[in-house]
Amino acid sequence: MSFPPGPRGRLTNTLALTRHPLDAPPDWLARYGDPFTVRAVNGDVVMTADPVHIKTLFGADPELFEAFGAHAMAPITGPDSVLILSGPRHRQERRLLMPPFHGDRMRAYAQLMADAAARRFEAMDRKLPFNVQNVTQGLSLDIILRAVLGLPLDAVGDFRQRVLDTVDGVSPVMLFFPFLQRGFFGLSPWDRFQTHAHALDADLAAHVERVRAAGPSEDILSLMLAARYEDGEPMTDSAIRDELRTLILAGHETTALGLAWAMDAIHRHPEVLARVQAEVDTAPDEPTAWAELPYLDAVCKETLRLYPVLTEVLRTLVRPWHFAGYDLPRGATVSASIHLVHRRPDLYPEPESFRPERFLEKKFSPFEYIPFGGGHRRCLGAAFAQFEMKVVLAYLLRTYRFTLESDVAPRPVRRALTLAPEGGVWVRMRPAGLRPAVEA
Ligand code: HEM
Repeated sequence: MSFPPGPRGRLTNTLALTRHPLDAPPDWLARYGDPFTVRAVNGDVVMTADPVHIKTLFGADPELFEAFGAHAMAPITGPDSVLILSGPRHRQERRLLMPPFHGDRMRAYAQLMADAAARRFEAMDRKLPFNVQNVTQGLSLDIILRAVLGLPLDAVGDFRQRVLDTVDGVSPVMLFFPFLQRGFFGLSPWDRFQTHAHALDADLAAHVERVRAAGPSEDILSLMLAARYEDGEPMTDSAIRDELRTLILAGHETTALGLAWAMDAIHRHPEVLARVQAEVDTAPDEPTAWAELPYLDAVCKETLRLYPVLTEVLRTLVRPWHFAGYDLPRGATVSASIHLVHRRPDLYPEPESFRPERFLEKKFSPFEYIPFGGGHRRCLGAAFAQFEMKVVLAYLLRTYRFTLESDVAPRPVRRALTLAPEGGVWVRMRPAGLRPAVEA
Protein backbone atom coordinates (compact mmCIF):
# COMPACT_ATOMS: atom_id res chain seq x y z
CA MET A 1 0.00 0.00 0.00
CA SER A 2 1.42 3.46 -0.89
CA PHE A 3 0.07 6.98 -1.05
CA PRO A 4 1.48 10.08 -2.78
CA PRO A 5 2.84 12.73 -0.37
CA GLY A 6 0.56 15.44 0.98
CA PRO A 7 -0.24 17.84 3.81
CA ARG A 8 -0.50 16.54 7.39
CA GLY A 9 -3.33 17.25 9.81
CA ARG A 10 -6.75 15.73 9.07
CA LEU A 11 -8.73 18.42 10.85
CA THR A 12 -6.85 21.38 9.37
CA ASN A 13 -7.00 19.81 5.89
CA THR A 14 -10.77 19.25 6.23
CA LEU A 15 -11.36 22.79 7.43
CA ALA A 16 -9.23 24.19 4.59
CA LEU A 17 -11.22 22.19 2.03
CA THR A 18 -14.64 23.01 3.46
CA ARG A 19 -14.09 26.72 4.12
CA HIS A 20 -11.93 27.85 1.19
CA PRO A 21 -11.84 24.99 -1.31
CA LEU A 22 -9.99 27.07 -3.91
CA ASP A 23 -7.14 28.35 -1.76
CA ALA A 24 -5.39 25.31 -0.27
CA PRO A 25 -5.26 22.80 -3.20
CA PRO A 26 -3.08 25.00 -5.50
CA ASP A 27 -0.53 25.33 -2.66
CA TRP A 28 -0.60 21.57 -2.04
CA LEU A 29 -0.14 20.88 -5.75
CA ALA A 30 2.86 23.24 -5.92
CA ARG A 31 4.40 21.73 -2.80
CA TYR A 32 3.81 17.99 -3.24
CA GLY A 33 3.40 17.52 -7.01
CA ASP A 34 0.70 15.61 -8.89
CA PRO A 35 -0.96 13.52 -7.50
CA PHE A 36 -0.96 14.45 -3.80
CA THR A 37 -2.86 13.01 -0.82
CA VAL A 38 -5.21 15.01 1.38
CA ARG A 39 -5.82 13.21 4.64
CA ALA A 40 -9.29 14.42 5.68
CA VAL A 41 -11.54 13.46 8.62
CA ASN A 42 -13.70 11.24 6.43
CA GLY A 43 -10.83 9.48 4.62
CA ASP A 44 -7.78 9.79 2.40
CA VAL A 45 -8.26 11.60 -0.89
CA VAL A 46 -5.69 11.33 -3.69
CA MET A 47 -6.06 14.44 -5.86
CA THR A 48 -4.91 14.95 -9.41
CA ALA A 49 -5.06 17.74 -11.98
CA ASP A 50 -3.20 15.81 -14.66
CA PRO A 51 -5.34 15.00 -17.75
CA VAL A 52 -3.37 11.75 -18.19
CA HIS A 53 -4.36 10.55 -14.71
CA ILE A 54 -7.91 11.90 -15.16
CA LYS A 55 -8.22 9.85 -18.35
CA THR A 56 -7.13 6.76 -16.39
CA LEU A 57 -9.71 7.52 -13.68
CA PHE A 58 -12.62 8.17 -16.06
CA GLY A 59 -11.74 5.13 -18.18
CA ALA A 60 -11.30 2.68 -15.28
CA ASP A 61 -13.61 -0.27 -14.67
CA PRO A 62 -16.73 1.18 -12.92
CA GLU A 63 -16.81 -1.91 -10.66
CA LEU A 64 -13.67 -0.56 -8.93
CA PHE A 65 -15.60 2.25 -7.30
CA GLU A 66 -18.54 3.14 -5.13
CA ALA A 67 -20.14 6.59 -5.11
CA PHE A 68 -18.28 8.97 -2.81
CA GLY A 69 -20.14 9.69 0.41
CA ALA A 70 -22.93 7.23 -0.45
CA HIS A 71 -23.62 6.52 3.24
CA ALA A 72 -23.97 10.21 4.11
CA MET A 73 -26.07 11.00 1.03
CA ALA A 74 -28.39 7.95 1.10
CA PRO A 75 -30.79 9.31 3.74
CA ILE A 76 -31.03 12.57 1.77
CA THR A 77 -31.62 11.25 -1.75
CA GLY A 78 -33.11 7.87 -0.80
CA PRO A 79 -31.41 4.48 -1.28
CA ASP A 80 -32.50 4.00 -4.90
CA SER A 81 -30.96 7.23 -6.20
CA VAL A 82 -28.56 7.12 -9.16
CA LEU A 83 -26.30 9.48 -7.18
CA ILE A 84 -25.48 6.84 -4.60
CA LEU A 85 -25.97 3.50 -6.38
CA SER A 86 -22.91 1.65 -7.71
CA GLY A 87 -22.17 -1.32 -9.97
CA PRO A 88 -24.87 -2.94 -12.15
CA ARG A 89 -27.77 -1.15 -10.40
CA HIS A 90 -26.18 2.23 -11.09
CA ARG A 91 -25.66 1.30 -14.76
CA GLN A 92 -29.25 0.09 -15.05
CA GLU A 93 -30.67 3.23 -13.46
CA ARG A 94 -28.60 5.56 -15.66
CA ARG A 95 -29.66 3.73 -18.81
CA LEU A 96 -33.27 4.39 -17.88
CA LEU A 97 -32.79 8.03 -16.92
CA MET A 98 -30.53 9.13 -19.76
CA PRO A 99 -32.97 9.38 -22.70
CA PRO A 100 -35.00 12.32 -21.28
CA PHE A 101 -31.71 14.22 -20.75
CA HIS A 102 -30.27 13.58 -24.19
CA GLY A 103 -29.19 16.74 -26.04
CA ASP A 104 -31.85 16.29 -28.77
CA ARG A 105 -34.68 16.48 -26.27
CA MET A 106 -33.62 19.90 -24.97
CA ARG A 107 -35.58 21.73 -27.67
CA ALA A 108 -38.75 20.60 -25.87
CA TYR A 109 -37.72 22.62 -22.80
CA ALA A 110 -36.52 25.85 -24.49
CA GLN A 111 -39.80 27.78 -24.40
CA LEU A 112 -40.54 26.60 -20.87
CA MET A 113 -37.13 27.95 -19.75
CA ALA A 114 -37.61 31.34 -21.42
CA ASP A 115 -41.16 31.69 -20.03
CA ALA A 116 -39.96 30.89 -16.51
CA ALA A 117 -37.18 33.51 -16.80
CA ALA A 118 -39.68 36.10 -18.03
CA ARG A 119 -42.04 35.41 -15.15
CA ARG A 120 -39.30 35.66 -12.47
CA PHE A 121 -37.54 38.79 -13.78
CA GLU A 122 -40.71 40.70 -14.72
CA ALA A 123 -41.72 40.41 -11.07
CA MET A 124 -38.56 42.20 -9.85
CA ASP A 125 -38.73 45.76 -8.57
CA ARG A 126 -36.67 47.71 -11.12
CA LYS A 127 -35.98 50.60 -8.77
CA LEU A 128 -33.99 48.54 -6.26
CA PRO A 129 -30.80 46.49 -6.49
CA PHE A 130 -31.31 42.75 -6.01
CA ASN A 131 -29.24 39.60 -5.60
CA VAL A 132 -29.44 37.86 -8.97
CA GLN A 133 -28.48 34.57 -7.33
CA ASN A 134 -31.73 34.54 -5.34
CA VAL A 135 -33.72 35.02 -8.53
CA THR A 136 -31.85 32.36 -10.51
CA GLN A 137 -32.34 29.95 -7.63
CA GLY A 138 -36.13 30.34 -7.78
CA LEU A 139 -36.01 30.27 -11.55
CA SER A 140 -33.96 27.06 -11.85
CA LEU A 141 -36.29 25.40 -9.38
CA ASP A 142 -39.35 26.49 -11.41
CA ILE A 143 -37.70 25.07 -14.53
CA ILE A 144 -36.70 21.71 -13.07
CA LEU A 145 -40.10 21.24 -11.41
CA ARG A 146 -41.87 21.98 -14.67
CA ALA A 147 -39.58 19.83 -16.82
CA VAL A 148 -39.42 16.88 -14.43
CA LEU A 149 -42.92 16.86 -12.96
CA GLY A 150 -44.78 18.46 -15.88
CA LEU A 151 -46.35 21.10 -13.63
CA PRO A 152 -47.72 24.30 -15.17
CA LEU A 153 -45.95 27.48 -13.94
CA ASP A 154 -48.94 28.44 -11.77
CA ALA A 155 -48.84 25.11 -9.93
CA VAL A 156 -45.16 24.89 -8.95
CA GLY A 157 -45.58 27.02 -5.79
CA ASP A 158 -46.39 24.30 -3.24
CA PHE A 159 -43.70 21.97 -4.49
CA ARG A 160 -41.21 24.82 -4.54
CA GLN A 161 -41.77 25.52 -0.84
CA ARG A 162 -41.48 21.84 0.06
CA VAL A 163 -38.19 21.52 -1.84
CA LEU A 164 -36.76 24.71 -0.31
CA ASP A 165 -37.71 23.54 3.20
CA THR A 166 -36.04 20.19 2.53
CA VAL A 167 -32.87 21.69 1.03
CA ASP A 168 -32.59 24.26 3.83
CA GLY A 169 -32.78 21.38 6.29
CA VAL A 170 -29.59 19.78 4.91
CA SER A 171 -26.63 21.31 6.65
CA PRO A 172 -23.20 20.68 5.05
CA VAL A 173 -22.04 19.59 8.49
CA MET A 174 -24.46 16.63 8.26
CA LEU A 175 -22.83 15.54 5.02
CA PHE A 176 -19.26 15.76 6.31
CA PHE A 177 -20.14 14.26 9.72
CA PRO A 178 -22.87 11.64 9.05
CA PHE A 179 -23.12 10.77 12.76
CA LEU A 180 -25.09 14.05 13.07
CA GLN A 181 -27.88 12.42 11.05
CA ARG A 182 -29.67 11.46 14.29
CA GLY A 183 -33.05 12.28 15.75
CA PHE A 184 -33.52 13.86 19.19
CA PHE A 185 -37.19 13.81 20.29
CA GLY A 186 -38.20 15.63 17.14
CA LEU A 187 -35.97 18.61 17.99
CA SER A 188 -32.68 18.02 16.16
CA PRO A 189 -31.87 19.55 12.72
CA TRP A 190 -32.06 15.96 11.39
CA ASP A 191 -35.62 15.58 12.73
CA ARG A 192 -36.62 18.81 11.00
CA PHE A 193 -35.05 17.64 7.74
CA GLN A 194 -36.93 14.32 8.00
CA THR A 195 -40.25 16.09 8.56
CA HIS A 196 -39.82 18.18 5.41
CA ALA A 197 -38.47 15.25 3.37
CA HIS A 198 -41.49 13.08 4.31
CA ALA A 199 -43.87 15.88 3.35
CA LEU A 200 -42.08 16.26 -0.01
CA ASP A 201 -42.27 12.49 -0.59
CA ALA A 202 -46.01 12.47 0.13
CA ASP A 203 -46.56 15.30 -2.39
CA LEU A 204 -44.40 13.52 -4.96
CA ALA A 205 -46.28 10.22 -4.47
CA ALA A 206 -49.66 11.96 -4.94
CA HIS A 207 -48.35 13.70 -8.06
CA VAL A 208 -47.03 10.41 -9.52
CA GLU A 209 -50.52 8.93 -9.15
CA ARG A 210 -52.09 11.93 -10.92
CA VAL A 211 -49.63 11.68 -13.83
CA ARG A 212 -50.18 7.90 -14.08
CA ALA A 213 -53.93 8.42 -14.26
CA ALA A 214 -53.64 11.24 -16.83
CA GLY A 215 -51.57 9.14 -19.29
CA PRO A 216 -48.37 9.86 -21.25
CA SER A 217 -47.05 13.37 -21.86
CA GLU A 218 -43.73 15.15 -22.54
CA ASP A 219 -42.41 15.57 -18.99
CA ILE A 220 -39.51 13.56 -17.54
CA LEU A 221 -41.73 11.81 -14.98
CA SER A 222 -44.00 10.49 -17.76
CA LEU A 223 -40.91 9.18 -19.58
CA MET A 224 -39.76 7.49 -16.36
CA LEU A 225 -43.18 5.86 -15.90
CA ALA A 226 -43.07 4.52 -19.47
CA ALA A 227 -39.42 3.32 -19.28
CA ARG A 228 -38.59 -0.38 -18.79
CA TYR A 229 -35.46 -2.10 -17.42
CA GLU A 230 -33.80 -4.73 -19.61
CA ASP A 231 -35.97 -7.45 -18.03
CA GLY A 232 -39.12 -5.55 -19.07
CA GLU A 233 -39.97 -4.35 -15.54
CA PRO A 234 -41.01 -0.73 -14.86
CA MET A 235 -39.36 1.44 -12.17
CA THR A 236 -40.66 0.80 -8.67
CA ASP A 237 -42.49 3.58 -6.83
CA SER A 238 -39.57 3.99 -4.42
CA ALA A 239 -37.05 4.26 -7.29
CA ILE A 240 -39.25 6.88 -8.96
CA ARG A 241 -39.52 8.84 -5.71
CA ASP A 242 -35.76 8.74 -5.07
CA GLU A 243 -34.90 9.76 -8.65
CA LEU A 244 -37.40 12.63 -8.56
CA ARG A 245 -35.85 13.88 -5.33
CA THR A 246 -32.37 13.48 -6.83
CA LEU A 247 -33.13 15.31 -10.07
CA ILE A 248 -34.84 18.17 -8.26
CA LEU A 249 -32.06 18.53 -5.67
CA ALA A 250 -29.12 18.03 -8.10
CA GLY A 251 -30.75 20.04 -10.86
CA HIS A 252 -31.53 23.46 -9.47
CA GLU A 253 -28.88 24.89 -7.13
CA THR A 254 -26.06 23.92 -9.52
CA THR A 255 -27.50 25.66 -12.60
CA ALA A 256 -28.68 28.63 -10.53
CA LEU A 257 -25.12 29.23 -9.33
CA GLY A 258 -23.74 28.79 -12.85
CA LEU A 259 -26.14 31.53 -13.98
CA ALA A 260 -25.21 33.85 -11.11
CA TRP A 261 -21.47 33.44 -11.82
CA ALA A 262 -22.08 34.05 -15.54
CA MET A 263 -24.03 37.26 -14.86
CA ASP A 264 -21.20 38.52 -12.67
CA ALA A 265 -18.41 37.60 -15.10
CA ILE A 266 -20.18 38.98 -18.20
CA HIS A 267 -20.93 42.33 -16.56
CA ARG A 268 -17.42 42.64 -15.11
CA HIS A 269 -15.87 42.38 -18.62
CA PRO A 270 -17.19 45.12 -20.97
CA GLU A 271 -15.59 43.56 -24.09
CA VAL A 272 -17.32 40.23 -23.35
CA LEU A 273 -20.63 41.97 -22.66
CA ALA A 274 -20.43 43.92 -25.94
CA ARG A 275 -19.71 40.79 -28.01
CA VAL A 276 -22.32 38.56 -26.40
CA GLN A 277 -24.89 41.39 -26.44
CA ALA A 278 -24.37 41.89 -30.20
CA GLU A 279 -24.79 38.15 -30.74
CA VAL A 280 -28.00 37.74 -28.75
CA ASP A 281 -29.57 40.96 -30.06
CA THR A 282 -29.24 39.80 -33.68
CA ALA A 283 -30.36 36.20 -32.99
CA PRO A 284 -33.80 34.97 -34.16
CA ASP A 285 -36.69 35.55 -31.76
CA GLU A 286 -36.72 31.87 -30.88
CA PRO A 287 -35.33 30.35 -27.64
CA THR A 288 -34.06 27.16 -29.31
CA ALA A 289 -31.87 29.32 -31.58
CA TRP A 290 -30.28 31.02 -28.54
CA ALA A 291 -28.80 27.71 -27.40
CA GLU A 292 -26.88 27.51 -30.71
CA LEU A 293 -25.07 30.86 -30.38
CA PRO A 294 -21.31 30.13 -30.44
CA TYR A 295 -20.04 33.06 -28.35
CA LEU A 296 -22.76 32.63 -25.73
CA ASP A 297 -21.80 28.94 -25.57
CA ALA A 298 -18.14 29.94 -25.03
CA VAL A 299 -19.20 32.39 -22.29
CA CYS A 300 -21.03 29.61 -20.41
CA LYS A 301 -18.08 27.24 -20.81
CA GLU A 302 -15.59 29.85 -19.57
CA THR A 303 -17.86 30.59 -16.59
CA LEU A 304 -17.90 26.92 -15.55
CA ARG A 305 -14.13 26.70 -16.14
CA LEU A 306 -13.29 29.56 -13.77
CA TYR A 307 -16.17 28.97 -11.35
CA PRO A 308 -16.90 25.24 -11.40
CA VAL A 309 -20.01 24.80 -9.27
CA LEU A 310 -18.60 21.53 -7.92
CA THR A 311 -14.84 21.46 -7.34
CA GLU A 312 -14.09 17.72 -7.34
CA VAL A 313 -15.01 14.51 -9.14
CA LEU A 314 -14.73 11.85 -6.44
CA ARG A 315 -14.57 8.04 -6.64
CA THR A 316 -14.06 5.70 -3.65
CA LEU A 317 -12.23 2.41 -4.20
CA VAL A 318 -13.94 -0.85 -3.27
CA ARG A 319 -10.73 -2.78 -3.94
CA PRO A 320 -7.02 -1.90 -4.15
CA TRP A 321 -5.93 -0.08 -7.30
CA HIS A 322 -2.59 0.79 -8.88
CA PHE A 323 -3.03 4.44 -9.85
CA ALA A 324 -0.40 6.95 -11.06
CA GLY A 325 2.44 4.79 -9.72
CA TYR A 326 0.91 4.17 -6.27
CA ASP A 327 -0.80 1.12 -4.76
CA LEU A 328 -3.94 2.62 -3.26
CA PRO A 329 -5.91 0.54 -0.74
CA ARG A 330 -9.64 -0.18 -0.67
CA GLY A 331 -11.47 2.76 0.91
CA ALA A 332 -9.18 5.46 -0.52
CA THR A 333 -10.87 8.14 -2.63
CA VAL A 334 -9.45 9.40 -5.92
CA SER A 335 -10.33 12.96 -6.95
CA ALA A 336 -10.05 14.67 -10.32
CA SER A 337 -9.81 18.26 -9.14
CA ILE A 338 -12.05 20.26 -11.47
CA HIS A 339 -10.76 23.52 -10.09
CA LEU A 340 -7.07 22.63 -10.45
CA VAL A 341 -7.23 21.18 -13.96
CA HIS A 342 -9.26 24.18 -15.13
CA ARG A 343 -6.49 26.53 -13.99
CA ARG A 344 -3.53 24.75 -15.57
CA PRO A 345 -1.55 27.45 -17.42
CA ASP A 346 -0.32 24.94 -20.03
CA LEU A 347 -3.95 24.28 -21.06
CA TYR A 348 -5.49 27.66 -20.28
CA PRO A 349 -2.92 30.48 -20.72
CA GLU A 350 -3.53 33.29 -18.19
CA PRO A 351 -5.86 30.92 -16.34
CA GLU A 352 -7.24 33.58 -13.99
CA SER A 353 -8.52 35.72 -16.91
CA PHE A 354 -12.13 35.40 -18.05
CA ARG A 355 -11.60 34.90 -21.79
CA PRO A 356 -14.46 33.00 -23.53
CA GLU A 357 -12.56 33.18 -26.86
CA ARG A 358 -10.31 30.35 -25.69
CA PHE A 359 -13.22 27.95 -26.28
CA LEU A 360 -13.60 29.21 -29.89
CA GLU A 361 -9.87 28.88 -30.57
CA LYS A 362 -9.31 25.39 -29.16
CA LYS A 363 -11.26 22.20 -28.43
CA PHE A 364 -10.48 20.77 -25.01
CA SER A 365 -10.52 17.04 -24.30
CA PRO A 366 -13.02 15.50 -21.82
CA PHE A 367 -10.07 15.12 -19.42
CA GLU A 368 -8.99 18.78 -19.64
CA TYR A 369 -12.40 20.45 -19.29
CA ILE A 370 -14.50 18.61 -16.71
CA PRO A 371 -17.18 20.82 -15.06
CA PHE A 372 -19.64 17.91 -15.31
CA GLY A 373 -17.23 15.16 -14.25
CA GLY A 374 -16.73 12.22 -16.61
CA GLY A 375 -16.78 8.51 -17.29
CA HIS A 376 -19.55 6.29 -15.94
CA ARG A 377 -20.92 8.92 -13.54
CA ARG A 378 -20.79 12.04 -15.77
CA CYS A 379 -23.53 14.52 -14.83
CA LEU A 380 -26.88 13.34 -16.18
CA GLY A 381 -28.14 16.90 -16.45
CA ALA A 382 -25.13 18.38 -18.32
CA ALA A 383 -27.03 19.07 -21.57
CA PHE A 384 -30.04 20.37 -19.63
CA ALA A 385 -27.92 22.72 -17.49
CA GLN A 386 -25.98 24.16 -20.43
CA PHE A 387 -29.17 24.64 -22.43
CA GLU A 388 -30.83 26.38 -19.50
CA MET A 389 -27.85 28.70 -18.92
CA LYS A 390 -27.83 29.79 -22.57
CA VAL A 391 -31.59 30.30 -22.94
CA VAL A 392 -31.90 32.24 -19.68
CA LEU A 393 -28.82 34.42 -20.31
CA ALA A 394 -29.95 35.21 -23.87
CA TYR A 395 -33.41 36.13 -22.60
CA LEU A 396 -31.96 38.40 -19.88
CA LEU A 397 -29.44 40.15 -22.15
CA ARG A 398 -32.04 40.72 -24.88
CA THR A 399 -34.66 42.04 -22.48
CA TYR A 400 -32.78 44.06 -19.84
CA ARG A 401 -29.61 46.01 -19.17
CA PHE A 402 -27.83 45.20 -15.90
CA THR A 403 -25.20 47.01 -13.84
CA LEU A 404 -23.25 45.41 -11.01
CA GLU A 405 -23.52 47.03 -7.60
CA SER A 406 -19.95 46.22 -6.52
CA ASP A 407 -16.60 46.90 -8.22
CA VAL A 408 -15.09 43.89 -6.49
CA ALA A 409 -15.69 40.37 -7.81
CA PRO A 410 -17.27 38.09 -5.16
CA ARG A 411 -15.06 35.42 -3.62
CA PRO A 412 -16.04 31.79 -4.26
CA VAL A 413 -17.14 30.17 -0.98
CA ARG A 414 -18.55 26.73 -0.21
CA ARG A 415 -22.31 26.47 0.21
CA ALA A 416 -23.19 22.88 1.19
CA LEU A 417 -21.39 21.02 -1.62
CA THR A 418 -21.35 23.84 -4.17
CA LEU A 419 -19.21 26.90 -4.84
CA ALA A 420 -21.17 30.15 -4.52
CA PRO A 421 -20.32 33.86 -4.88
CA GLU A 422 -19.80 35.18 -1.33
CA GLY A 423 -22.60 37.64 -0.53
CA GLY A 424 -24.28 36.95 -3.90
CA VAL A 425 -24.26 38.97 -7.15
CA TRP A 426 -26.06 42.28 -6.66
CA VAL A 427 -27.35 44.08 -9.75
CA ARG A 428 -29.67 46.84 -10.92
CA MET A 429 -31.81 46.22 -13.95
CA ARG A 430 -33.62 48.33 -16.56
CA PRO A 431 -35.57 47.33 -19.68
CA ALA A 432 -33.61 47.14 -22.94
CA GLY A 433 -36.46 47.96 -25.28
CA LEU A 434 -36.17 44.76 -27.33
CA ARG A 435 -38.75 42.23 -26.25
CA PRO A 436 -38.61 38.57 -27.22
CA ALA A 437 -41.72 36.47 -27.75
CA VAL A 438 -42.38 34.80 -24.40
CA GLU A 439 -45.48 34.35 -22.29
CA ALA A 440 -44.93 36.29 -19.08
C1 HEM B 1 -24.21 23.90 -14.07
C2 HEM B 1 -24.94 22.90 -13.60
C3 HEM B 1 -24.38 21.56 -13.15
C4 HEM B 1 -23.10 21.19 -12.84
C5 HEM B 1 -21.84 22.06 -12.86
C6 HEM B 1 -23.14 19.78 -12.49
C7 HEM B 1 -22.02 19.03 -12.14
C8 HEM B 1 -22.05 17.70 -11.81
C9 HEM B 1 -20.88 16.92 -11.45
C10 HEM B 1 -19.44 17.43 -11.37
C11 HEM B 1 -21.31 15.66 -11.18
C12 HEM B 1 -20.44 14.47 -10.74
C13 HEM B 1 -20.03 13.72 -12.00
C14 HEM B 1 -19.03 12.60 -11.79
O1 HEM B 1 -18.94 12.05 -10.68
O2 HEM B 1 -18.31 12.27 -12.76
C15 HEM B 1 -22.75 15.62 -11.38
C16 HEM B 1 -23.54 14.49 -11.22
C17 HEM B 1 -24.91 14.47 -11.41
N1 HEM B 1 -25.69 15.52 -11.84
FE1 HEM B 1 -25.06 17.39 -12.30
N2 HEM B 1 -24.44 19.32 -12.58
C18 HEM B 1 -25.24 20.37 -13.00
C19 HEM B 1 -26.59 20.33 -13.26
C20 HEM B 1 -27.38 19.20 -13.17
C21 HEM B 1 -28.78 19.12 -13.54
C22 HEM B 1 -29.57 20.28 -14.16
C23 HEM B 1 -29.20 17.85 -13.25
C24 HEM B 1 -30.56 17.22 -13.44
C25 HEM B 1 -31.52 17.72 -14.13
C26 HEM B 1 -28.07 17.13 -12.71
C27 HEM B 1 -28.11 15.81 -12.31
C28 HEM B 1 -27.00 15.08 -11.91
C29 HEM B 1 -27.06 13.68 -11.51
C30 HEM B 1 -28.32 12.81 -11.44
C31 HEM B 1 -25.75 13.30 -11.20
C32 HEM B 1 -25.28 11.92 -10.70
C33 HEM B 1 -24.83 11.06 -11.89
C34 HEM B 1 -24.31 9.69 -11.44
O3 HEM B 1 -23.80 9.56 -10.32
O4 HEM B 1 -24.41 8.75 -12.25
N3 HEM B 1 -26.98 17.98 -12.68
N4 HEM B 1 -23.18 16.87 -11.76
